[in-house]
Amino acid sequence: MRTYTNVKDLGDLKAAVSEALEIKKNRFAYKSLGENKTLLMVFFNSSLRTRLSTQKAGMNLGMNTMVLDINQGAWKLETERGVIMDGDKSEHILEAIPVMGSYCDIIGVRAFAQFENKEDDYQEKILNQFIQYSGKPVFSMEAATGHPLQAFADLITIEEYKRTSRPKVVMTWAPHPKALPQAVPNSFADFMNEADVDFVITHPQGYELDPKFVRGAVVEYDQDKALAGADFVYAKNWAAYADPNYGKILSKDMSWTITSQKMALTNNAYFMHCLPVRRNMIVSDDVIESPQSIVIPEAANREISAQTVIKRMLESLT
Ligand code: CP
Repeated sequence: MRTYTNVKDLGDLKAAVSEALEIKKNRFAYKSLGENKTLLMVFFNSSLRTRLSTQKAGMNLGMNTMVLDINQGAWKLETERGVIMDGDKSEHILEAIPVMGSYCDIIGVRAFAQFENKEDDYQEKILNQFIQYSGKPVFSMEAATGHPLQAFADLITIEEYKRTSRPKVVMTWAPHPKALPQAVPNSFADFMNEADVDFVITHPQGYELDPKFVRGAVVEYDQDKALAGADFVYAKNWAAYADPNYGKILSKDMSWTITSQKMALTNNAYFMHCLPVRRNMIVSDDVIESPQSIVIPEAANREISAQTVIKRMLESLT
């Protein structure tokens, strides 16, 4: 595997989940694969889970791991070609990327949508420059339009907790005080559309996601109807995708918060969220603290999704 940016990069999804569950049984079984190999993790944005779980995954595989925070301690990077660099950015990404590539074997990149230019965000300008210019296998640690390590961990978690062979999975928009990218819902939709689940997306009017990710999923604007009979409730906020409102907050309607009343509509569903989560905006305290909340095992599976991807990348080096 040379790149990991979306579900297709995993090939046979059932086989990928089986491989992940095997790795979980003995996460140190492949320690020799990463001997004398270096993982570089480059962060343009903050992280708790991705940073720790991916570093741990690399260490489980015997790798040396290095972390670079672009906005803390590194030179500020210019990302546009043709700019006269007379401002505060000291280095161009076109030099920085091959230099980073020269020090490592595999690179993970986190670079969120900036909401300044939809085309730039949806062309994944930063992630794709790493793929093009680093000369090394590159995986997304959440880019502008996708968070495939999160969605893979979500699918592994659903596989572990499902009570029927084809569960109903509902992804619901929920309110948030800040404008958040569509990366997590895009990737979750990308994975659920390939998985053996009945997938429903629910959100207020105006929050339609890119049809490239929604594909054949059922979109239901009535949240209560969508939640009826759900086996898994996946809550997430995102800002508007459609023009002319790209990146804007259109609603903070607290009637979309996932409460115990909302969960009572479901088939005793499990509650999921990628974290970090704003309590009593996205989800009430009692729901996230309930036995049906699986946000912690979901986060723990980030180590397993990352390890599966990095293992496949290491195998492609040999
Ligand atoms: N879910 C997730 O990616 O968490 P972090 O932003 O803390 O890495």
